Amino acid sequence: MAKQEDVFKKVISHAKEYGFIFPSSEIYDGLSAIYDYGQNGAELKNNIKQYWWKAMVQLNENIVGIDSAIFMHPTIWKASGHVDAFNDPLIDNKDSKKRFRADVLIEDYCAKIEDKENKEIEKAAKRFGDAFDKAEFVATNPRVLEYRAKREAILSRLAKSLEKEDLADVKALIEELEIADPDTGSKNWTEVRQFNLMFGTKLGASADTATDLYLRPETAQGIFVNYLNVQKTSRHKLPFGIAQIGKAFRNEIVARQFIFRMREFEQMEMQYFVAPGTELEFYENWKTKRLNWHLALGLGSENYRFHDHEKLAHYANAAADIEFNFPFGFKELEGIHSRTDFDLKAHEKFSGRKLQYFDPERNENYVPYVVETSVGLDRLFLALFSTCLKDEVLEDGSERTVLSLPPALAPVKAAILPLMKKDGLAEYAETIFNDLKYDFNLFYEEKDAIGKRYRRQDAIGTPLCITIDHDSLADNTVTIRDRDTMKQERVPVTELRRIIDEKTSFRNLLSKI
Ligand code: GAP
Repeated sequence: MAKQEDVFKKVISHAKEYGFIFPSSEIYDGLSAIYDYGQNGAELKNNIKQYWWKAMVQLNENIVGIDSAIFMHPTIWKASGHVDAFNDPLIDNKDSKKRFRADVLIEDYCAKIEDKENKEIEKAAKRFGDAFDKAEFVATNPRVLEYRAKREAILSRLAKSLEKEDLADVKALIEELEIADPDTGSKNWTEVRQFNLMFGTKLGASADTATDLYLRPETAQGIFVNYLNVQKTSRHKLPFGIAQIGKAFRNEIVARQFIFRMREFEQMEMQYFVAPGTELEFYENWKTKRLNWHLALGLGSENYRFHDHEKLAHYANAAADIEFNFPFGFKELEGIHSRTDFDLKAHEKFSGRKLQYFDPERNENYVPYVVETSVGLDRLFLALFSTCLKDEVLEDGSERTVLSLPPALAPVKAAILPLMKKDGLAEYAETIFNDLKYDFNLFYEEKDAIGKRYRRQDAIGTPLCITIDHDSLADNTVTIRDRDTMKQERVPVTELRRIIDEKTSFRNLLSKI
């Protein structure tokens, strides 16, 4: 088994064992691609939300946050293009009866060619050592050039066929490339069909009067339809932004890779409303700002890269993804899109209401342009969790599993651990707990040997463990243990609030952005 697969399995089992993520409806055998967050997962998720919200709303005086409803008027999805165009091309294998995204089958085929290309490069790098010039090799090596040309030709044909809605050609491409069902090897495929990803539901008591609704597939439209309400009530001039965190729902066909692609997930989206003609400058600006926000988490700059979209959606004049190196390779974590005035103009047309802004400096009315930043909360959770989860061999040869989360995001900020229950240690520890609980999320435990308790806190990422022993009763000092260095220090009880705050405050993250 590939090492990456092992890492990913460990991530999934650790998430369950330590109360971060459970399969949803597990006692009924679960529901595909739906997950529940447990006691530690909910805390971590809330902290990630806070980091995003503070960075957007608190640190930018021209960005405000809203919380719009999941149910929205169905015409919104007609205006946004989701009813007609939020589709995935699917194909069924007649033998295995399994359903696949046709474009993903072709992209996976190309990813295999790219692997071969990379292997050629790696081999050459080894062969030539320090003298290796990667750029020159890639530009001149016949085999690499051949792989690259093949890949580009396939992807360009796929993009063209999808754009023209020529699904017969997508099927033809699958057949020409002799792509087989990855599980069974069968090449017995159906035609390719379009499949809308929105979940439908009904509003109303009786079947004949009920209205068909959709569960929102993105939070962004809740921002667009409220933009004028917010602009008028906040009296912000352009440029200004509206931020929102909330659930989104997509009936994903290829729902796999744990919480990477779910059917119910959360987005953290911000629409930045700007004057026409200024959008590309703000777009570049937000690309930089959003990458810096990610980098402040300390997961390593080598784990991020931009993927600029060559083929743009009809509403965008620039778009890029921030990709992260997940346990299964680089994949999209966040999208940054310059969406022009497409959405607001469409809502003007479908609602019959004017959504124009009067610009006092230009002395004219216009529909603003929009730059959007959209990050998946669950994907960010997975990025953090999988990168921070580490198995370490200690100096004495023993092993530990540690979740080295940024301290501000850790579910529990400090564990309060009386060395033993008796001799008044538990009572003293409780006093400390009761004093600090108003400021920090704490954990109290008196059972088991202290080493075992430390290990359990390491495994959920608690930055500090505070141990109360007999000396504490005599001199009002405690031992404080650091998760990462495992160093222990004796400190006065009166210093605890300051020490925990210094270690776990959001300031530490926010000041690095
Ligand atoms: N409003 C723009 C928008 O929704 P998107 O690229 O479709 O753009 C934005 O989604 C982000 O939402 C993605 O970068 C990803 O992090 C997250 N996301 C999208 N689909 C998801 C899914 N099925 N499961 C988990 N996260 C998802």
